[in-house]
Amino acid sequence: KAGYSKKSGAHRQAFVAGRMWSHFPCWILQPGAIFGAHMRGSSQPIGIFDSGIGGLTVVRQVQQLMPAENIVYLGDTARVPYGTKGTETVNRFACEDAAFLHTQNVKAIVVACNSASASALPALNERFSQPTFGVIVPGAIAAVEATRNGRIGVIGTQATLRSRAYDRAILELGENIEVHGQACPLLVPLVEEGWVDHDVTAAVLREYLEPLLSRNIDTLVLGCTHYPLLKAAIAQVTGPDIALVDSAESCAQYIQRELDRLGLLASEGRGGMVLNVTDELERVTDLAERFLGQRPENVAQVELTSL
Ligand code: DGL
Repeated sequence: KAGYSKKSGAHRQAFVAGRMWSHFPCWILQPGAIFGAHMRGSSQPIGIFDSGIGGLTVVRQVQQLMPAENIVYLGDTARVPYGTKGTETVNRFACEDAAFLHTQNVKAIVVACNSASASALPALNERFSQPTFGVIVPGAIAAVEATRNGRIGVIGTQATLRSRAYDRAILELGENIEVHGQACPLLVPLVEEGWVDHDVTAAVLREYLEPLLSRNIDTLVLGCTHYPLLKAAIAQVTGPDIALVDSAESCAQYIQRELDRLGLLASEGRGGMVLNVTDELERVTDLAERFLGQRPENVAQVELTSL
């Protein structure tokens, strides 16, 4: 018997509010930042960053759910992947990415990258006054809502799994829930190669998912920007009885709730997106179409300032 329990709605609210509170220390500690906060308005763009173009899966969901939002996207294609790098390096890169978005006058910063969300949020909250959202907490909330037997699997990069950030967020929301993780480093290159419907990828997925299936999980968190493109291939291996939590989808729903709560949700007109990358503009523009569902129109190559 699993004997697990989900914590009450009130606990969940408190947990999320706690997280939100930790998003605002600069507003409280720096008088200048308070001024900045008052200047913030719903018509400003949302800043979204990722190690590369995978975070466009989050953009796609945000555009579907909040078509009026303008988005400034940054993909750090010069330094991708983050998922194989150490925590300090990922945190430094994340701060440099957010610093670029900060110069674009964004009203909120979204860390679309699971590997960066897993460790960099405290550092980002310390440096930037904008509300900052990651993908981990929204994914954890969706997973705890979905599970019936209290056994949740999480897949992601080595950096995400090493951090145990999903485990912590899930265990905050439910008691005695078992979280079983599996790092899947081969999946990002396979998706970028376009091998989403390929025998090799199916074999790799079977190998990675077997240990989780043998733990009798009933919910699997797709904890990486690239995995929404593998949803059908993953479902082939897991079968219909395992709920797949798409962290891009749950992140967009979470952002909508939070922007609304903060009075920052854009409601009028149709928003656009500027795609900024740090390297390989042409190749990346071609690849971006697969993640975004359409060819990006406004693209630019930018240089980041080292911190
Ligand atoms: N964006 C990363 C993530 O979601 C995957 C690619 C990388 O390793 O940088 O974890």
